[in-house]
Amino acid sequence: MNISRGCALLALMAVMTAGAGCAPKRTEPVRAGEIPDGTIDPAQWGKVYPVEYELWKKTGEPTPAGKSKYKRGYDQGEERPDKLDEYPFLALLYNGWGFGIEYREPRGHLHMIEDQLEVDPGRIKAGGSCLTCKTPYAPILQRQMGKEYFSAPYKEVLAKIPKEHQTLGVACIDCHNNQDMSLKISRGFTLGKALQMLGVDEAKMTQQDKRSLVCAQCHVTYSIPKDAAMHSTDVFFPWEGSKWGHITIEDIIKKLRNNPPSGEWTQSVTGFKLAFIRHPEFELFSNNSVHWQAGVACSDCHMPYTKVGSRKVSDHRIMSPLKNDLKACQQCHTESPEWLRNQIFAIQDRTMSQFIRSGYATATVAKLFEMANKAQAAGRQIDQGLYAQARDHYEEAFYRVVFIGAENSTGFHNPSEALRILGDAGNQAGKAEGLLRQALTKAGVTVPVKIDLELAKYVNNRGVKKLMFKPQHEIKDPFAGK
Ligand code: HEC
Ligand code: HEC
Ligand code: HEC
Ligand code: HEC
Repeated sequence: MNISRGCALLALMAVMTAGAGCAPKRTEPVRAGEIPDGTIDPAQWGKVYPVEYELWKKTGEPTPAGKSKYKRGYDQGEERPDKLDEYPFLALLYNGWGFGIEYREPRGHLHMIEDQLEVDPGRIKAGGSCLTCKTPYAPILQRQMGKEYFSAPYKEVLAKIPKEHQTLGVACIDCHNNQDMSLKISRGFTLGKALQMLGVDEAKMTQQDKRSLVCAQCHVTYSIPKDAAMHSTDVFFPWEGSKWGHITIEDIIKKLRNNPPSGEWTQSVTGFKLAFIRHPEFELFSNNSVHWQAGVACSDCHMPYTKVGSRKVSDHRIMSPLKNDLKACQQCHTESPEWLRNQIFAIQDRTMSQFIRSGYATATVAKLFEMANKAQAAGRQIDQGLYAQARDHYEEAFYRVVFIGAENSTGFHNPSEALRILGDAGNQAGKAEGLLRQALTKAGVTVPVKIDLELAKYVNNRGVKKLMFKPQHEIKDPFAGK
């Protein structure tokens, strides 16, 4: 690894001290006290900081095509890729609720609420909770409405936002203190509570920590607990038992599985009530990754310093570093963009190869459960001990597949940890398969060597009529007739 010397040192020192990044830190001077308290409208902030404002608005523009391998750019109007088409086994695993109908790749910040309004209605059933990482009004609404905020229907909570801001996504006030423009966490009711759970004193967080924590307000997994009537009661991060810099998939799964009523949805293939994991970028990245250890923050790679005219600012057009020709990396790395790009692609290819392998293995187990459930319903005796053990291994595999499938860097944020998680997923799925085959054989059911996943059924027929889009292509079931 060829890191320019001063930079590597700076970055490494940042583990202990505030401030890393290798570009000189002279950005635009901050003009204190010019933005009145309570100003949410970014256009008002933009009057004081026009350069950041213009860059922030650009997150609404289509990103350059042909630069990223797994997060391709797409023009306005073109269909956004759907993870269920890209990884058909997910359509099987998520069948039974909104995520099994539509699960698009993310796009720019300016679109976040607009995209939520277009998504299948099943995805926003949880109510006001769904606005938590979407609107800058979330903290105010939560304060004003209390518990009601989480459970009231989505549209009802949305209607409380001033009309002109109902589709406004992440805004200046989500990350900045209006008085001095310092970075701040505005979501005390979610991230603030989660940090306390980790034993972290928010007041002692360094500037460099905050350059990641502003993103961790949303780029984390969360759970929505339900009361007996299945109404949402809160939004929390399942980090119990973990430590700062070491939030593990093991702790997350433990919390999700031991936190009744954890069943957010019912998987139709198995009939199991399960939880879910969303966009765990902060968790994967901060779990001891090489860059985290070197003191690198989310903003170093996604908001590199950039020159606009004579001004030097943090690039508020947040997007994939690949789409910006890896300018961000060159703040620290002296290698060519081609070399760096190839490193990213190699990491992502390895991750996806393991993801697909463990994903299909997990989907196979789901189909074996379907078979076992059918056999049982037809009066056969399925060994309950074997079944319970298999279910335990299956759920361990399932949540690991969900975790990596939901993490948006395709492994780059923490390559070795991503591979470790997927390796464990494959092993757990293998154990579950063995146990279920044993249980089925014992019950006199003949199990074919190759299990028919009936993928076409899940991919092509997933409630399209409710949606505003049609899947782009019919997929052929690779296992049909085998
Ligand atoms: C208030 C919540 C929130 C905060 C804070 C936030 N994000 Fe996001 N981010 C989102 C959502 C939601 C999306 C997906 C939007 C969509 O698909 O419509 C997203 C999308 C993205 C994307 C994909 C952009 C693209 O072009 O596809 C990147 C990269 C990203 N965020 C990085 C960051 C970084 C880095 C930070 C911190 C500096 C951050 N985000 C802070 C909610 C947030
Ligand atoms: C060392 C650089 C680096 C750091 C640090 C980093 N990222 Fe990334 N991030 C990347 C790269 C590279 C990708 C892959 C982009 C691609 O495939 O186009 C990526 C992808 C993403 C995506 C998906 C982008 C898209 O276009 O859909 C999101 C969201 C994201 N990162 C958020 C974060 C957050 C939040 C943090 C901090 C917790 C973070 N990143 C830290 C380099 C970084
Ligand atoms: C997702 C979080 C996020 C949002 C939203 C955001 N910023 Fe920032 N902003 C940052 C980060 C991170 C920095 C770098 C701070 C540092 O390291 O000191 C920054 C820096 C700045 C600075 C200091 C100069 C510079 O460019 O480094 C100004 C001024 C600024 N932002 C204005 C704005 C304005 C105006 C908006 C709304 C239009 C906005 N920001 C929205 C995260 C955000
Ligand atoms: C703020 C500084 C900084 C930035 C920005 C940065 N890196 Fe790094 N990177 C480092 C440091 C420090 C190391 C560790 C070097 C070592 O231990 O040899 C590292 C290590 C790496 C490694 C080896 C990782 C491993 O797992 O062995 C790769 C690949 C890499 N960086 C790619 C990138 C890419 C691609 C980007 C931009 C998207 C990027 N880096 C942005 C500082 C940075």
